[in-house]
Amino acid sequence: MYWRYRGDPSMWAWLLHRLAGIGIFLFLLVHIVDISLIGWGPDLFNKLVVLYHHPVFRLGEILLVGAVLFHGLNGLRVIVMDFAPAAVLYHRQLLVGVVIAFVVLFVPAAAIMFHGMLQSLQLHSGANLLNEWRAWLPALAAALGVSAAYAPTLYLPQKQVSPRPAGGLEFYGWLYIRLSGVLIVFLVLGHLFIMHLMDGGVSRINFDFIAQRFASPFWRVYDLLLMVLALSHGVWGMRTVLLDYIHRPLPRLAAVAALYTVSGVVFALGVLVLFTFRPPQ
Ligand code: HEM
Ligand code: HEM
Repeated sequence: MYWRYRGDPSMWAWLLHRLAGIGIFLFLLVHIVDISLIGWGPDLFNKLVVLYHHPVFRLGEILLVGAVLFHGLNGLRVIVMDFAPAAVLYHRQLLVGVVIAFVVLFVPAAAIMFHGMLQSLQLHSGANLLNEWRAWLPALAAALGVSAAYAPTLYLPQKQVSPRPAGGLEFYGWLYIRLSGVLIVFLVLGHLFIMHLMDGGVSRINFDFIAQRFASPFWRVYDLLLMVLALSHGVWGMRTVLLDYIHRPLPRLAAVAALYTVSGVVFALGVLVLFTFRPPQ
């Protein structure tokens, strides 16, 4: 069952999986807050949602879809090897399968999203946003934020294989990450398909669009499920990441406490809006 891990493509897959997981988690925290702003009415929300339509953010959205696809497909590979140990012998073939599935799904999705971005640029051709230097400031701030968040990954541990915990909370956390991962694949890909690939993609997202969707209990329950699963999966995954890099007891406690507190507050806000939002008559 032994194979060389360091420098092996599996190690790069592990690193990309971790970076993608951290990136998606940070996005999710911001995303739940920005969607919750519908609770403050159409004026504020429609002003802010312009960001989703901005070309710089649209490029970021393509990256995000790539990150979700890679993390999801590679996560399924990890799950298969965890529950069917014989598959470990074929870990390289499985990785090739992940790369092929990723390319097949991502290239057309990125092409459609890129096309939508170019179309929106033409709509704005009177005042080309890309020539306006201030328009790049949010992207610069986001890039700095993301680099700062990724900085700890410079000190990667030498041993990359995560063994199955023997029992207790660690084992149930390990199991939960895997079970929730399988459910999230369907929910998040469905969500991204609706938001990006159907009926003109993100250009149609505004207060009225969400109000209309939230008029149906089905979409509220869908979003609630996605939020509970993705946030809890992300929190447990981020806990693993933090514990891997922070070893002294006090900084460890502070980091994990901050993770739980921020995620708890964001979760409470998301639930509040999902349960109390009333579409205007
Ligand atoms: C850039 C890509 C994305 C766009 C444009 C987008 C768009 C939206 C929109 C318009 C809503 C409002 C509710 C609705 O209409 O159903 C929403 C809600 C939500 N999205 Fe996304 N989404 C994106 C990516 C994601 C990803 C990757 C995740 C999960 C990791 C996610 C999780 C959620 C959750 C949990 C809600 C409910 C939040 C709440 O009610 O406060 N979204 N999204
Ligand atoms: C699309 C479906 C998803 C699947 C199949 C999946 C699967 C997995 C698996 C199997 C692991 C454990 C990896 C290991 O032990 O080596 C994991 C870790 C992780 N996941 Fe996901 N996941 C998904 C979505 C998400 C989402 C939406 C987020 C963010 C909100 C996320 C964030 C994380 C993080 C931060 C880790 C820890 C990474 C590490 O320990 O290296 N995942 N995921």
